[in-house]
Amino acid sequence: MWVLGIESSCDETAAAVLDPQGTLISSRINSQEAIHARFGGVVPEIASREHLARIRSLVEGALQDAQRTPQELGGIAVTNGPGLVGSLLVGVAFAKALAMAHRCPLVGVNHLEGHLMAPFVQGPPPEWPLVALLVSGGHTSLVYAQGPGQYKTIGSTRDDAAGEAFDKVAKLMGLGYPGGARIDALAAEGDPAAFKFPRGLKERASLDFSFSGLKTALLLHLQARGWMAGEGQAFPCGELQGLKDTAASFQQAVVDVLVRKTLAAARKYQVRHVVISGGVAANSGLRQASQAAFEAEGIRLSIPPRGLCTDNAAMIALAGRRRLIQSEHEGWGLQVLPRLSF
Ligand code: KG4
Ligand code: ZN
Repeated sequence: MWVLGIESSCDETAAAVLDPQGTLISSRINSQEAIHARFGGVVPEIASREHLARIRSLVEGALQDAQRTPQELGGIAVTNGPGLVGSLLVGVAFAKALAMAHRCPLVGVNHLEGHLMAPFVQGPPPEWPLVALLVSGGHTSLVYAQGPGQYKTIGSTRDDAAGEAFDKVAKLMGLGYPGGARIDALAAEGDPAAFKFPRGLKERASLDFSFSGLKTALLLHLQARGWMAGEGQAFPCGELQGLKDTAASFQQAVVDVLVRKTLAAARKYQVRHVVISGGVAANSGLRQASQAAFEAEGIRLSIPPRGLCTDNAAMIALAGRRRLIQSEHEGWGLQVLPRLSF
């Protein structure tokens, strides 16, 4: 069956088409990053209006790229949570209308399952059971996945998500929004050992994370040196190397904790395969450090290409495909669940 995936949970509107073998044929994404940047974060009302303006042309574009008509679709998979309620409503309402008009089966997909399935979209598929580290702007969780659809959350953040910490620190440094990729770029030219920042819950046996202490340490560090960015103003000139070193040291602190806890989870659940996914999985430091750490442990690691780490509809189509094949359709009563968890 040909499957259409639709994603609109936050600030990306996306549509993708999978062929009957589950191969990704087309994928279109519109990021609203530039629109929200001037507010320093996602403005929910603007996000939903922008989804509404874009969704039709994105779905039509993805279908055109795949040279399919809606009548040829065997199923539609749409993100129905977690996420911003207004944003989710646009995707779900659109998917329902399309499914009704073409008498096509419809399933709702948990956005987190989408991220977990992203490493399966391209390349050699990971093997079950596995441990997944899902790191995005809204979530930081460790999941033990016994098989498709069999998930157990074994660790999560007690405060900020890792991506949120990247974004907040970037804001303090005047790097703008979203800051993850900007810190990543700056960190490439800095010394990760220049400053020692705290590693939250490092010594604890728990698989939970905490990034709020690190964020506060960064605030104090920047304040003490007079490196805080002013309103709408970038960091002070002449301090560039210090800020590069700060970015590199901060990134190292986040990466250390993510890798350490994921490794502990893989050992505890005795899995031979680990996947890392979500927007923060695009981070160069995390990609390099995890590659080295898991190789040394004899554990296979799958991280999707960068474009599949951040929000996209290919992962949603793939996550929904399994249930569409098993005829587990939701029907027209599909609900939007902004606080959906695993
Ligand atoms: O998965 P995603 O696109 O959206 C959510 O579901 O939240 O993740 C977005 C998050 C943002 O916080 C962004 O700053 C972060 O991923 N991010 C990065 C990088 N690229 C995106 N964080 C660190 N390094 C990157 N290269
Ligand atoms: Zn996401």
